[in-house]
Order: sequence, then structure tokens, then C-alpha cells
Amino acid sequence: MRSHYCGELRESHLGEEVSLCGWVHRRRDHGGVIFLDMRDREGIVQVVFDPDTAEAFALADQVRNEFVLNIKGRVRSRDENAINPRMPTGRIEVLGSELEILNRAETPPFQLDEYSEAGEDVRLRHRYIDLRRQEMQHRLRLRSAVALRVRNYLDEKGFIDIETPILTKATPEGARDYLVPSRTHPGQFFALPQSPQLFKQLLMMSGFDRYYQIAKCFRDEDLRADRQPEFTQIDIETTFMSAREIMAIVEDMLRVIFKETIGVELEPFPVIPYAEAMGKYGSDKPDLRFDLPFVEIADLLTDVEFKVFSAPANDPASRVVALRLPDGDRLSRKNLDDYVQFVSIYGARGLAYIRVNDLSAGMDGLQSPILKFLPEATVKQILDRVGAADKDVIFFGADKANIVNDSMGALRCKLAEDLNLYTRQWATCWVTDFPMFEKDAAGNWSALHHPFTSPVGDADEMLADPGGTLSNAYDVVINGYEVGGGSIRVHQMAVQQKIFRVLRLSENEANVKFGFLLDALRYGAPPHGGLAIGLDRLVMLLAGTTAIRDVIAFPKTQTAACLMTSAPSEVDEAQLRELNISVNKKV
Ligand code: AMO
Ligand code: AMP
Repeated sequence: MRSHYCGELRESHLGEEVSLCGWVHRRRDHGGVIFLDMRDREGIVQVVFDPDTAEAFALADQVRNEFVLNIKGRVRSRDENAINPRMPTGRIEVLGSELEILNRAETPPFQLDEYSEAGEDVRLRHRYIDLRRQEMQHRLRLRSAVALRVRNYLDEKGFIDIETPILTKATPEGARDYLVPSRTHPGQFFALPQSPQLFKQLLMMSGFDRYYQIAKCFRDEDLRADRQPEFTQIDIETTFMSAREIMAIVEDMLRVIFKETIGVELEPFPVIPYAEAMGKYGSDKPDLRFDLPFVEIADLLTDVEFKVFSAPANDPASRVVALRLPDGDRLSRKNLDDYVQFVSIYGARGLAYIRVNDLSAGMDGLQSPILKFLPEATVKQILDRVGAADKDVIFFGADKANIVNDSMGALRCKLAEDLNLYTRQWATCWVTDFPMFEKDAAGNWSALHHPFTSPVGDADEMLADPGGTLSNAYDVVINGYEVGGGSIRVHQMAVQQKIFRVLRLSENEANVKFGFLLDALRYGAPPHGGLAIGLDRLVMLLAGTTAIRDVIAFPKTQTAACLMTSAPSEVDEAQLRELNISVNKKV
């Protein structure tokens, strides 16, 4: 039916008879001549019908946006004054001679060229139309290109693609499980995998040495712009490799992907220990496209009368930090008030600041609501420590460490965005030396990564001091997004059991949940480790968007629903009966 894609026609095709198939992007009537912009996945080309071809002209008169057509015609040059340099096909057009309407279309719920005015709900409900847009076509093709390069790269390095089950048992990655009831085992459930973690470890115990999979993962957790309930990992596992060796492979692969898909040469990834990342940026996924580090000042404030500062300065679980913004004189009073509001979202009870108008004038050269609470000598020490200069605004965060980290870390990023403080387009890093455990809300230890991550050092020391134990985990961060994470795993049963003990999993519970893993560890488990990259997040960054929904063909909404198919949905009584399920509907 088709000889060429609409979007691929160029001057090299001049004079050729072509047959095009596609959609009517736009139709214009220009005093006796009809212009149809014909669209397919490769782009748009202008087709002209004039009354000389009476039959085709009459049909062209009937078509509307999104009709599906087959058009035959001849490629010709555009008049000089009709050339459109912004269109790849803008120097040519097709003089149509035949037109067949393959299908009609009702008026679409939104115009493809005016989609930005359509709300995201409308776009998601009619995703098949939204995906016709060039932008969406480009993003999904970029995703395909990335996946292909991943496969080529890993295949070349000897990695073997092995599929792991979707109907399985819970794999703890810190989220709730999606459960699937079993019909053949009444009252029992499969869990969809939060990741292939345990299976890939078992494959290492089976001797495959290098595994990869582009794997679907499922997590029932609070959604954000960079999280979907169903997402894709580039999942990797190897045996007999150190953390640094695994990191080197992954870093090289990412560099190849950036180069080959968007032409960007990434610099070598700096390695930053977790403690340093939290200390300087309040985040374990620091955005390093700009600097703006925190400066610790608690030690200067332990004795001041200003309780807002002295109380946290004397509490080991709290922090007092300063953030020095050069050229802060561009911020108005209103801007500053807005930032006070902004940090309150992250639980901060305030945001003190000092404007440095004239450093040489001492206290008179400063402007701040908190100066009256602080001795001059202390103010001077703070200014010295942050390296203050004229026109600075210095912000202060004082609270429990997690609140300071969240609020000042977010402020740091917000300032960079608002004031365009970026000094580079791409900033990658590895974050290493994570704590092995963190306290959950109930005060119990939970694994910071997952419980199969190996601790640094002796397992008995870990038992004695879980909070002081680091893990052999590493995350890869790009522009402030956690793009991937992995670790060297536990390969000795005794160590795994001790980790379960810290997590207060009884021997019985451990056996019920992970007996198969503990068993496998008895029969010659090699040292192994790996990592998983979030494919959606990686493609999102490469595509220059800020939501992974933009690079997923059929994503879910904030409430984990699909507006197009109306999933999840109720099922009929018979189906429930077969599954031995009775539903307790809330009234
Ligand atoms: P982790 O839980 O860190 O590690 O996940 C690895 C990467 O997957 C991506 N990711 C997500 N992307 C979109 N939506 C989500 N809900 C979501 N959750 C995670 C992130 C993240 O860095 N089994 C381990 C990996 C390993 O140790 O090898 C794991 O799943 O980019
Ligand atoms: P207050 O005594 O609460 O009126 O606060 C005096 C100044 O300190 C105001 O500028 C507040 O914004 C600021 N402030 C209050 N709490 C904090 C905090 N936890 N961290 C940083 N600044 C704060």
C-alpha cells in the first residue's frame, strides 16, 4: 500500500510517484486548492489537491482531522515563498492524484497540535491519540533505542538474558506487594515481584556468572513523578566481581547509551560516600549540576540564647546548617517569604536568613530578623565559615537532621532551578558506603537497601552495632535522580541469618519467607553482586522530561489507576467465588 513514509520525503524524491498512508494532521482550504498535512510515525508532509483531479479533490474536501488515508501523488518542489525551513519536508510537497479514505474519525477529544491545552486526564484517557504526537513517538522510540543498546552492550560483555517469574513470592524492596489470588490454592496468594532480586541471586548460585533482564517490577507505594506502580528495570547480576568492577561496567554502559542515543559524553562518575552526600547536600541522590553545599555550623551555636538554633545545636539527632547563596540580592522580600513557605512543606518550622549588604560595615552591613538574637562574634564566625561575600543571602536550617536534610536539600534544588544556578547539563555520581540499617517509624531496624545486601566487616560486629554498620551498596545518581542501585550480596548463610536477626525476623518467619534462599546458600553459593537501573527514569532523563509517565506508553495515574482501561475494576461474583474471595465493600 505504501511506498514511503510521509515524513521521510525530501528533495531527493522530486518527481517520484509515491503512495502514502497515514492520518490527516490538518486540512486547509485555500481558495480552490486543498492542503492536507499527512502524518505518520516519521513526520508530516504537505499534500495538495487541485480541482484538476476532480474525484480526489471532492474526497479531499470531505476529509477531516485524523481520517486515515491512502494518497497517491507526485513529489514536487514548493514555490520559493512556500518553503517551510522548520519542517524536514518543508522544501517539497506532494501533488495528490488519488485519495482513498481508509477510515473516518470523529472529532478527537483534543487537537494533536494543541494538546498542551488538554489536561493530562484527557490525554491519558485517550492515550492512543496522545501517542500519535511526534513528541510521544520520539520518546517511545528513544526508549526502544536505549533498550536495544542495553541488550547489545550486555550481550557483548557475556551477560545472558534470563526471564524470572512474575507470579512469585514477596521480594522485599520496601514497598507493599501486589497480590494475585490463587484459584488452585484457596486462600493463598502470589506476589508480583518488586524486583527479580532473589531469582537473580539464585541464578548466580546456578553458575550463569553474568545475568541480565529488562524486567517488569511491581510496587504498591506512594506515587510521584518518578515512580510508577509498574516499572522496568535493567537488572544485572554477576559472580566473582568486586563492587568497583560492577560499577565500572555499569558506568561504561551508561556512557555508551548517552553517547549513542543523545550524543552526550559523560565525564567519569565521582564516587561520594553516603555520609558526605548527606552532610553536604542533605540527600543521598545529590544534584551536582550546581554546588551550593550545606555548611555545618552547630558547633558555633551551642551557647547562644536563640533556642531555635541552640536546641538543635545541642542535640546529636539534629543539625544546624547554613546555605550560602551568592548574588542573593536578586531575591526580593516576597521571594524570601515564598522560600519560607516552600521549606514548610518539608516540615521546617522556619527559614532564617541573613542578607549580606556590605561585609565591611560589620553588623550594620547585614540585614536579618535573627541578628538581634545572636552575639556579634558568633555572626562573624558564621560569616567566616561560609565564606560570605557582599550580596549573599545566607539561609539557615535548624531542626532534626531528617527535617533539615529534606527541607534544606529541597531548597538547594529549588534555588538552583529558580535562579538557574546550573553550571553543567549533566552531573552523575556514585553514592557508596550506605548505612546497612535505618530505624523505621516504630523504632525497629530495617534494611536501607534490601536485606540481601552484604555488610561491611564482621557480621558479629553488625549484630552488636547495627546502626554503625555500613553496607556494600552503591547507587548511581544522575542530575539528582536515583537512576540505579545495587550491592554485593550476602553469600554465606550465617551472615544472612544474622541480618534477619537484626530485622527481628524469627528463624521460623525467615524460613517461611526465604527458606529457599537460605537453602540455596548451603549448597555452594559464590560471592556475587549486581545492580538494577530504572529504565523509565533513565529514558526520562535522556528525553529531557521530568515525569516517567512521559516515557511509558500506558502509564498509571497518581492513584495507581489506568484511565483508559478503567483498571483496576470490579470482577463478577462468579470469578470471586472461584477464587474463594469475598469482598468487604466499604459502605
Ligand atoms: P531499587 O529498589 O533501588 O533496587 O530499584 C532499582 C532502580 O529501579 C528504579 N525504581 C523505580 N522506577 C520507577 N518507579 C518505581 N516505583 C521505582 N522503584 C525503583 C530506580 C531504582 O534506582 N533489586 C534491587 C537492585 C539490586 O540490588 O540489584 C532493586 O530493586 O531507578
Ligand atoms: P521565631 O522565633 O520562630 O519567630 O523565628 C525567628 C526566625 O528564625 C524566623 O526568621 C524564622 O523563620 C527562623 N526559624 C524558626 N525556626 C527555624 C528553624 N527550625 N530553622 C531555621 N530557621 C528557623
